[in-house]
Amino acid sequence: MDSHMPDEGTAYGLPAGTSRSELTLVTAGTPGGEFLRRYWHPVGLASDATERPRPVRILGEDLILFRDGCGRAGLVYPRCVHRGTSLFYGRVEERGIRCCYHGWLFDVEGRCLEQPCEPEAGKKMRDRVRQPWYPVVERYGLIFAYLGPPDRKPLLPRYDLLEELDEGEFLEADDSSIGSGGAVIVPCNWLQHFENVMDPFHVPILHGSFSGPQFVEQMALMPEVSFAATDRGVKCLQVRKLEDGKIFNRVTEAVMPTLRLVASPRVTRYTRASAVGWVLPIDNTSFRIYVVGRVRKPGEMREGTSRYEGKRWSELTAEEHQRLPGDYEAQTGQGSITLHSEEHLASSDRGVALVRRLLKEQIDIVKAGGNPMGISLAADQPPAANQAHGNQEVVRTEAGNYLVDRDADRDAAQSGGPER
Ligand code: FES
Ligand SMILES: [Fe+2]
Repeated sequence: MDSHMPDEGTAYGLPAGTSRSELTLVTAGTPGGEFLRRYWHPVGLASDATERPRPVRILGEDLILFRDGCGRAGLVYPRCVHRGTSLFYGRVEERGIRCCYHGWLFDVEGRCLEQPCEPEAGKKMRDRVRQPWYPVVERYGLIFAYLGPPDRKPLLPRYDLLEELDEGEFLEADDSSIGSGGAVIVPCNWLQHFENVMDPFHVPILHGSFSGPQFVEQMALMPEVSFAATDRGVKCLQVRKLEDGKIFNRVTEAVMPTLRLVASPRVTRYTRASAVGWVLPIDNTSFRIYVVGRVRKPGEMREGTSRYEGKRWSELTAEEHQRLPGDYEAQTGQGSITLHSEEHLASSDRGVALVRRLLKEQIDIVKAGGNPMGISLAADQPPAANQAHGNQEVVRTEAGNYLVDRDADRDAAQSGGPER
């Protein structure tokens, strides 16, 4: 090396990095935030709504979740519309939540039912005030909320994976962020996790050799990978040739806006995926995952949680986290919001690029006043459908682990995914 030549590629003078904020930010008024506000998002387990007001944070908004004495779940803005004390200190009653300060009582839709300090003559004013609230729907053991423009409120979609159960199965909801690779609340932007669903190449590296095998042997094989757009998001087919001549086809899906359909990487059975995961952006720099799955015994989904040299993630020392990183470390390692300006996307990142492109497209549709992908509006449905959902179309999916014997089967799987 010529010692007279200046060094190249040093970090000196590196410009400050920037993020693609149109994709990453989730707060109200941002392009991404307005896109996300066109869909329902889980805010808790059904059992989280009780007579004890519970603070929840979703898309950067702090709210209070409760369940009134009649069994109705409510989600309200925390600051009491009277003089602003928090309904966190409120008392839940038969008809709603009562503010601790002057006793105004609000129902689950924010209507003011009582103002005990006001004379009866003030009733008019009572009818005019409204505690800001959001609609909720309970399904699959979760509570979903809609934080968007009221005239664009869609139906809450139904998914085949959760509507069509096999013999002996029942649904279970889980709020421990299965799939995060670590803590329940992950301190980085949600997109770092969501785009990872379309990054199958990291599996044989991060989970297969670097810290592994964290899953099972066949997952450590480098797959042949193809990606395709679907009418609900993006899918990825990973083909692995097994030693016995069989072919292992794994299909994963990223479904708009935040859903991950990922079959168990432990491949206990070759069949369709058993769970739907919703990545919930808590705010710009943290997320959590709610999962609903078909199980045969309670707690089955958590049993599959990754082990690192036999230990649970929460039991690892700082040195072990460094030596045995998983998804949590890799994704939070990109920073609280990754710096897109510093990336060098390669051919193996085409799934990530596809997810970003699709998101950008959908965000632009919302910006232009349109309805994004996967929305079916209540107004387009027969009136009874909003309640009974009897006529609501079920979203059909392809995610799963499939074993095929012959090339012919493999070609069939590549063209259309599983037929059931
Ligand atoms: S601040 Fe809530 S009733 Fe007065
Ligand atoms: Fe991973």
